[in-house]
Amino acid sequence: MFFGHGEPSKFDKDHEDLLVGIAGQAATAIDNARLYRAAEREIAERRRAESALQTLNATLERRILDALAEQAETEARLHQAQKMEAVGRLTGGVAHDFNNLLQVISGNLQLLTKDVAGSARAEQRVRNALAGVSRGSQLASQLLAFGRRQPLAPKVINVGRLIRTWDDMLKQALGEAIEVETIIAGGLWNTIVDPVQVETAILNLAINARDAMEGRGKLTIEAGNASIDDAYAARHEDVNPGHYLMLAITDTGCGMPSDVLARVFEPFFTTKPEGQGTGLGLSMVFGFVKQSGGHIKIYSEPGQGTTVRIYLPRTQEREDLAADTETGPITGGSETILVVEDDEEVRRTAADILADLGYRVLKAKDADSALAIVESGVPIDVLFTDVVMPGSLRSPELARKAKERIPDIAVLFTSGYTDNAIVHGGKLDPGVHLLSKPYSREALARKLRHLIRNQQQRGAVSRMNTRAERTLSADPLPGRLRVLLVEDDALIRVSTFDMLETLGHDVSEASNANDALAMVLTSKFDVLLTDISLPGVSGSELAVQAVALAPSLKVIFATGYDQVRGYEATAVLLRKPFTEEHLAVALRNAIGL
Ligand SMILES: Nc1ncnc2c1ncn2[C@@H]1O[C@H](COP(=O)(O)OP(=O)(O)O)[C@@H](O)[C@H]1O
Ligand SMILES: [Mg+2]
Repeated sequence: MFFGHGEPSKFDKDHEDLLVGIAGQAATAIDNARLYRAAEREIAERRRAESALQTLNATLERRILDALAEQAETEARLHQAQKMEAVGRLTGGVAHDFNNLLQVISGNLQLLTKDVAGSARAEQRVRNALAGVSRGSQLASQLLAFGRRQPLAPKVINVGRLIRTWDDMLKQALGEAIEVETIIAGGLWNTIVDPVQVETAILNLAINARDAMEGRGKLTIEAGNASIDDAYAARHEDVNPGHYLMLAITDTGCGMPSDVLARVFEPFFTTKPEGQGTGLGLSMVFGFVKQSGGHIKIYSEPGQGTTVRIYLPRTQEREDLAADTETGPITGGSETILVVEDDEEVRRTAADILADLGYRVLKAKDADSALAIVESGVPIDVLFTDVVMPGSLRSPELARKAKERIPDIAVLFTSGYTDNAIVHGGKLDPGVHLLSKPYSREALARKLRHLIRNQQQRGAVSRMNTRAERTLSADPLPGRLRVLLVEDDALIRVSTFDMLETLGHDVSEASNANDALAMVLTSKFDVLLTDISLPGVSGSELAVQAVALAPSLKVIFATGYDQVRGYEATAVLLRKPFTEEHLAVALRNAIGL
């Protein structure tokens, strides 16, 4: 670097050194700056990496927490579902036994009503007791509903159409100050469900809404088509994806905090004061919806009102508009009914009610005994059997075998609750009729007439081609007779006893000749009806001795043997298996001897 001409001066030299120094420093500075910037970049990069790592960690953590929460929720749901299941089983079982007791009480009270007719005080007491029974049976049916064991009579219905017909009932139940709006979507799908129970459910929800709104507000009922997708189904216990009919009931009431919401389906859970809430409303709705293959969900927040959504499975079938004919006076009949029931008191009460209605009644204490009666060849029009019984033969199997033997037989099941033997997916098998306990005399009478009528219509055609079963006409019965029945086979004795009683006679029974003779000594009888082959002393020997003791005694021999000789002049022969008509004819002939 030169500033002039010629030799560089000292100044120049110094100056140059200085400049070189400056340049060097500048270069270093530049290098430093470069280094600094690189470091700065590196730091920034590291910071970015660190923050990315942090974000990643946080996301991971969140994900893990979410997963844990979800798992806890699933477990809680499962736990809740299991709890409800267990409580349901317990309640269902209790209600079943409870119903059997009520059946005995109500049956006897109904019979008693007739006995005390004329005494106003006694009639009133019986009425009070019956009112108690009906409250008890209401409670039992609510518990059965929760336990998913109430007998349902599902029909294909259009819920929209039904809601419209219930509008007035709802308005009445809710009072003036509650506005009711119904919104029913067009093209609503049909569902298959028990319409009576849908009505009960809506009424229960509406009453809850009324209570939550303290009598003032707006209730909205919506019906629409809905699909439950896989994701929703996965998030809820016991829900299948698919097409549903959705029913939503919304109120503008107080709503519920989450701890209440978590418990509303529990039976007897109520926040209402003693005497105002039973805590069974939502339990029933829950049980009914589940039993019908549906789903229920409640959305509620304090101060925000409540929406209850019910999903009922869609059906492609057409609506079943057949009218019910469950009105008019009740009638009895003269058909033969075989009552099969293990509970002795329930059996006797049922038999008494049936006999009172004019039916001929046969009784059996379990399915095996019933089958023996069926196979004895006695004509039976209706098999009326308890669903749940001890013994090796199950009641549906008994029904099947009875139908094989007597194709025209009608079958009516009765049960304190329905078990899977005859109910599948909450529906009765086709052709199966069920009368739930406790039943009233009226309900039993109606159900039987309905069944017998159906059966007769069905049987009319087929009967035209088969040999007429009953060739003997039942002539007017002889008056009330005192009959001594001697038979060693307990089942035949029981059914013959019942037939004689149904024919209006006084019956005493003995299982062997010695007991029978003792009875002839102490009491007076018009007719001795005895089996021929008895253990020890035979029926024919018995007859000789009995007539010697009581010369006016008429004798009927019941026998399974075709060849019986020598008794024609002194006794009447009744061939086994015999019907009630045969028996009536034999009695008349014996009296005429
Ligand atoms: N629509 C509603 N709004 C607010 N709370 C409700 C509603 N429906 C039910 N609940 C709450 O759920 C409880 C249980 O209801 P439910 O089973 O019908 O029995 P109950 O009505 O006899 O109390 C009620 O006591 C109430 O606390
Ligand atoms: Mg309620």
